[in-house]
Amino acid sequence: MIVAVTGVILVLFVIGHLLGNLQIFLGPEWINSYAQHLRDLGGFLWAIRLFLLIAVLLHIYYTIWLAIENRRARGSYREREPVKASFASRHMAMSGLIILAFIFYHLAHFTVRVTDPRFALLKADPLNRYDVYSMMVYGFQNVIVSAFYVLAMFLLALHLSHGASSFFQSLGLNDKKLTPRLARIGRVVAWLIFIGYTSIPVAVLLGLVKPAQQL
Ligand code: HEM
Repeated sequence: MIVAVTGVILVLFVIGHLLGNLQIFLGPEWINSYAQHLRDLGGFLWAIRLFLLIAVLLHIYYTIWLAIENRRARGSYREREPVKASFASRHMAMSGLIILAFIFYHLAHFTVRVTDPRFALLKADPLNRYDVYSMMVYGFQNVIVSAFYVLAMFLLALHLSHGASSFFQSLGLNDKKLTPRLARIGRVVAWLIFIGYTSIPVAVLLGLVKPAQQL
C-alpha cells in the first residue's frame, strides 16, 4: 500500500512537472514566469520538496523491503523467474536506481546549476527573472546531456508502465475485465509522459527552440 500510494504521489508530480516544462513551447515569457511563481512560494515550496523527498524515501525503503520479503518467501532453493514476467517487471530495481541517479544529476544540472558553467553567464530576462527558458535550451544543446535525459525518460516510462499494473494489484483490484483495462490506460499514460518529456530535448537539438539570449 505504501509503495502504491507514494508511487501515485510521485506520478502526480511527474505529470505536473511535465505540464510546467511543456510551457517552453509557449515561449520564454510563460516558462520564466512559471519558474518565478514557484520560487515565490518560498516556505511552501520547501514544504512540497520535503513532502516529495519523504515520498521518494518511503517508496525506495519499502520496495527494498518487499524484494527481501519476496526472496525469503521463495525459500532457499533458486526458483527460475516466472516465464510470464515482462521485461519491465524484471527491471524495476535497475530502472528505479537509474532514475534516482538521474534525479541527482538533474538537480545539480537545473536546480543547483553546477554542471554547466554557461548557466552562470545568463542575464536576467526583460522582467528581471531568471531565464529558465534559455538555461533549458543551452542545457539540451549538449547531445550527451540530452541523450542521458532521453534514456532516463525511457526507463521512467518502463518503470511507470509496470508500476501501473502493480498498483491495481496492491489495491486488491482483481476484476477480470476492469483491471487489465486500467493497467492498459496506465501504460498509455506512461508512454505519453515519455513522449512529452522527450519532445523538449529533441526540439532543442532540432533547432526548433532557440535561446532567448546569446552567450
Ligand atoms: C525533459 C525533461 C525535464 C526537464 C526539461 C526538466 C526541467 C526542470 C527544471 C528547469 C527545473 C528547475 C526549475 C527551477 O529551478 O526553476 C527542474 C527541477 C526539478 N525536476 Fe525536472 N525536468 C525534467 C524531467 C524531470 C523528471 C523526469 C523528474 C523526476 C522523475 C524531475 C524532477 C525534478 C525535481 C525533483 C526538481 C526540483 C524541483 C525543486 O525545485 O524542488 N524532472 N526540472
